[in-house]
Amino acid sequence: MKILILGAKGNLGQQLVSAFQNGNETIAWDREEIDIADKTLISKKIKEIKPAIIINAAAFNAVDKCEEPDGLEIAKKINSLAPGYLAQAALAVKATLVHFSTDYVFDGKRRAGYKEDGEPKPINKYGETKRAGEEEIIRLSGRGLKWYLIRTSKLFGSKGESGASKQSFFDLMLKLAKEKDQLEIVNEELSCFTYTKDLAMAVRKLVDGNFGYGIYHLVNPGPATWYQAAVELFKQAGVSVKVVPVKSDKFSRPAKRPKYSILLNTKFEPLRDWQEALKEYLNNLGNL
Ligand SMILES: NC(=O)c1ccc[n+]([C@@H]2O[C@H](COP(=O)([O-])OP(=O)(O)OC[C@H]3O[C@@H](n4cnc5c(N)ncnc54)[C@H](OP(=O)(O)O)[C@@H]3O)[C@@H](O)[C@H]2O)c1
Repeated sequence: MKILILGAKGNLGQQLVSAFQNGNETIAWDREEIDIADKTLISKKIKEIKPAIIINAAAFNAVDKCEEPDGLEIAKKINSLAPGYLAQAALAVKATLVHFSTDYVFDGKRRAGYKEDGEPKPINKYGETKRAGEEEIIRLSGRGLKWYLIRTSKLFGSKGESGASKQSFFDLMLKLAKEKDQLEIVNEELSCFTYTKDLAMAVRKLVDGNFGYGIYHLVNPGPATWYQAAVELFKQAGVSVKVVPVKSDKFSRPAKRPKYSILLNTKFEPLRDWQEALKEYLNNLGNL
């Protein structure tokens, strides 16, 4: 099957390329090959190659920059409008569209977490732009678009090749632990850490399997705050550093974060716990 992967050099994108390679003809594009915000080019190139599946892992993920006018303008183009262009192009060639969204589409007031049909109510600009992108896709569902909208959270794993790909929280903590004796870490914002390799494999299973189109919440289960995750990381990696839990407001960040944005996966088989996934990631890094 011909599969087009966009944002292929990003953190998740590169794992998707590995997960889908076997048995498929994968076409991996990043910014050098196409700007997903260019509606005309998207339509033209997708009509030319006629993929059976389009997987979009490209996004503007700089959450705090989205609160500034320049950042917001970029986020609107990439996160809100581009998914609509991709959906229209997918519809034109009868391809299935797989797109990713975030726990930040929820307000974080529901301590019990959010099922796939939970009501989105973003509390920051990044979340608003991602929700607008979701709506562009859902809107075309009535016209026969085949789509999977996958929400996920707190990604970690090998860093993508692309320069702007964010270093994951765990990599940052390991780096800081080498530089400092004590780390203050936010003990709030409960959500699920998700290993990009596990997510990519789950997406492959979802797409290959007989699952209905629609919204899915795919995360490694077991919610944790940043502090709880750091404690587990240092325990597993055998790193000795003093870790101090602090409240979110200790660090001033432009964008508000949801307090409880636990995504509940009620439609697909559960992924393994994040602690197990972290163990594998650290093993691969050669830290154990
Ligand atoms: N990271 C997280 O913790 C997290 C949490 C929840 C949901 N998600 C969602 O998961 C998905 C994957 O995230 P990620 O962290 O893997 O992203 P990432 O590492 O930032 O990768 C995004 C990729 O898309 C490319 N890109 C950006 N704008 C583009 C454009 N206009 N045209 C073509 N390519 C473009 C980037 O290239 P450049 O580097 O050149 O910009 C980069 O290679 C996104 O939909 C994101 O919203 C992520």
